[in-house]
Amino acid sequence: MNQAMTVHDAIFGRCSVRAFQSSPLERSTLQALLAAAVRAPTAMHSEPWQFVIVEEVALLKRLSEQARLSFVAETARLHPGRAGLEMFSRPGFDIFYDAPCLVVICAKVDTPFAAADCWLAAQNLMLQAHAMGLGTCVIGSAVTGLNAPATKLELDIPAETVAIAPVIVGRPRGETPRSARSEPHVLAWR
Ligand SMILES: Cc1cc2nc3c(=O)[nH]c(=O)nc-3n(C[C@H](O)[C@H](O)[C@H](O)COP(=O)(O)O)c2cc1C
Repeated sequence: MNQAMTVHDAIFGRCSVRAFQSSPLERSTLQALLAAAVRAPTAMHSEPWQFVIVEEVALLKRLSEQARLSFVAETARLHPGRAGLEMFSRPGFDIFYDAPCLVVICAKVDTPFAAADCWLAAQNLMLQAHAMGLGTCVIGSAVTGLNAPATKLELDIPAETVAIAPVIVGRPRGETPRSARSEPHVLAWR
């Protein structure tokens, strides 16, 4: 665990991790991640974020399967004929990549910037996790499934609250190469 990693090293070293050891995370580790998440900037100091943490393996599997089916159905409806969904169409494909933990950052979206605040919190959580030797990945494909009324009920997410940023966390299994980025596209610099 290297919590003294520089911000530069955390930003440039982080990458999405999709292969995990099965060992659960310590409670103190998760608390450190949540503490970092809530240090994010927050519009009007509203701190809209609320967290659901799922570690039960059977529940993770069930949520994955529900979310996978919702994602396939929604994508087929919104983008008929879209390529690249083969993986998601495979029964049993775990959209959480068998991670031992899913953190769902939620908010009541009754202010214009609640979702922005949650995404900033997600980035804080992911950088902190990276600095602690953990791997993370945003699972946007789970958002629709997590917001299904029955799932919200099961996860104690109130009706007026929305699941915004699902992030899986765990100890990485193997090395993940960093993905490339284009140079910054500056539209104007006057
Ligand atoms: C809003 C959002 C949704 C994402 N959803 C998924 C997802 O459902 N499944 C997945 O494997 N990766 C997902 N990712 C991770 C991206 O694929 C990843 O960030 C991108 O390929 C860049 O790679 P890097 O994070 O390693 O730099 C998502 C990322 C973001 C920001």
